[in-house]
Amino acid sequence: MQKILDAILADERDALAHLPVPETYKGMTVHADEVNLFDGMATADKDPRRSLHLDEVPTPELGPGEALVAVMASAINYNTVWTSIFEPLSTFGFLKRYGKTSPLASRHDQPYHVVGSDLAGVVLRTGPGVQAWKPGDEVVAHCLSVELESPDGHNDTMLDPEQRIWGFETNFGGLAELALVKTNQLMPKPKHLTWEEAASPGLVNSTAYRQLVSTNGANMKQGDTVLIWGASGGLGSYATQFALNGGAIPVCVVSSEEKAEICRRMGAELIINRNAEGYRFWKDEHEQDPREWKRFGAKIRELTGGDDPDIVFEHPGRETFGASVYVARKGGTIVTCASTSGYMHSYDNRYLWMNLKRIIGSHFANYREAWEANRLIAKGKIHPTLSKVYSLSETGQAARDVQSNAHQGKVGVLCLAPEEGLGVRDPELRARHLSDINRFRGV
Ligand SMILES: NC(=O)c1ccc[n+]([C@@H]2O[C@H](COP(=O)([O-])OP(=O)(O)OC[C@H]3O[C@@H](n4cnc5c(N)ncnc54)[C@H](OP(=O)(O)O)[C@@H]3O)[C@@H](O)[C@H]2O)c1
Repeated sequence: MQKILDAILADERDALAHLPVPETYKGMTVHADEVNLFDGMATADKDPRRSLHLDEVPTPELGPGEALVAVMASAINYNTVWTSIFEPLSTFGFLKRYGKTSPLASRHDQPYHVVGSDLAGVVLRTGPGVQAWKPGDEVVAHCLSVELESPDGHNDTMLDPEQRIWGFETNFGGLAELALVKTNQLMPKPKHLTWEEAASPGLVNSTAYRQLVSTNGANMKQGDTVLIWGASGGLGSYATQFALNGGAIPVCVVSSEEKAEICRRMGAELIINRNAEGYRFWKDEHEQDPREWKRFGAKIRELTGGDDPDIVFEHPGRETFGASVYVARKGGTIVTCASTSGYMHSYDNRYLWMNLKRIIGSHFANYREAWEANRLIAKGKIHPTLSKVYSLSETGQAARDVQSNAHQGKVGVLCLAPEEGLGVRDPELRARHLSDINRFRGV
């Protein structure tokens, strides 16, 4: 591994095709024999630092249409939190089911799961049939894994019946020294970014792009008022940038003054601190309080000068969904990709049908959408939201930060990269955007 790293750091990319691939590598794993580790504990007490392990694992065999990538950096996504606390399901069930689909897929069914759905790195090897990528290419990877043998996925690859999220529903993810991907996950690494900056937007940037901008999602247009929950978080920090970049008007909901300040730094003007306002959308575990929805809606109108949101960018789920459906404007759209606070939503359907609102479900992004989202990063129109970087061995702490909402934007992880700040190839473009690239740092 050291020879591979030395060649990358010395910019001897042609040498990579000739260096032997190590038989094992270090990866961050959860273990199948620990899926009951947290039984009986409250979700918040299930600590990823106990379940995530840095293991030496065998390098998987390379199949057709695949690439083995030397991972320089990765990032934490909430899916790694879910995997590491074995909620709502153990991801070993996903690996087992995938493993049964073909002899090649059986590689994924292991007693360990190498996690992680983002990477920036360098291609080491490509499998049979790959024309578009070669050893030495500097890449980022999006996390959509598809088979495309069924007709269903050929208008929109997210509809492939064999659609999976790499590093969550497949093995050999990005929080490791090496990763196995399909080459239709690869995209050029933005040249003005360091490895850790380039690795951090991937999953959330692509998801927010489809959810908010794409015709498959809310199809946002200039002038739209967009209510964004968690506007300084992983998804929200990109949704806020897409809204501003696309001429829309974000109304950013956050839980602290620090987070409000980050939204201002991104250029947002309309901000609601949900803690300071003290909203209690649920009276108790079973009943919501429509007066609190109204109070929230009134605050939005106060900020916008009377406008209700054309689009509500939803992901907190159960706790906020009733309010989200209520505050969307007549004919407006609630677009949801998650349920962090609980997936059994309830809302007053009279407000939906009588006001001709729509709820749209959105999940990750197809290759085209991920590519467009990455292109905006590469052109310096949308910026990484990296706040903090950990080493690979500290991944458990990094995941704990995200689980306990103690982070801002994205939390990065150095894999093979020995330090931060490496990998920049276009210092001029970087210099032009440096303050934007760094705006989440040290907050
Ligand atoms: N379907 C997909 O493809 C997809 C892709 C990415 C993520 N996700 C899911 O989306 C969710 C968010 O991911 P993320 O990366 O954005 O996570 P994140 O970085 O933790 O950000 C989420 C933000 O939501 C806000 N929030 C959390 N709980 C809330 C509540 N009960 N009420 C109101 N706001 C709340 C918090 O912001 P404040 O405290 O500042 O309000 C938090 O910073 C996760 O469940 C993740 O698994 C799904």
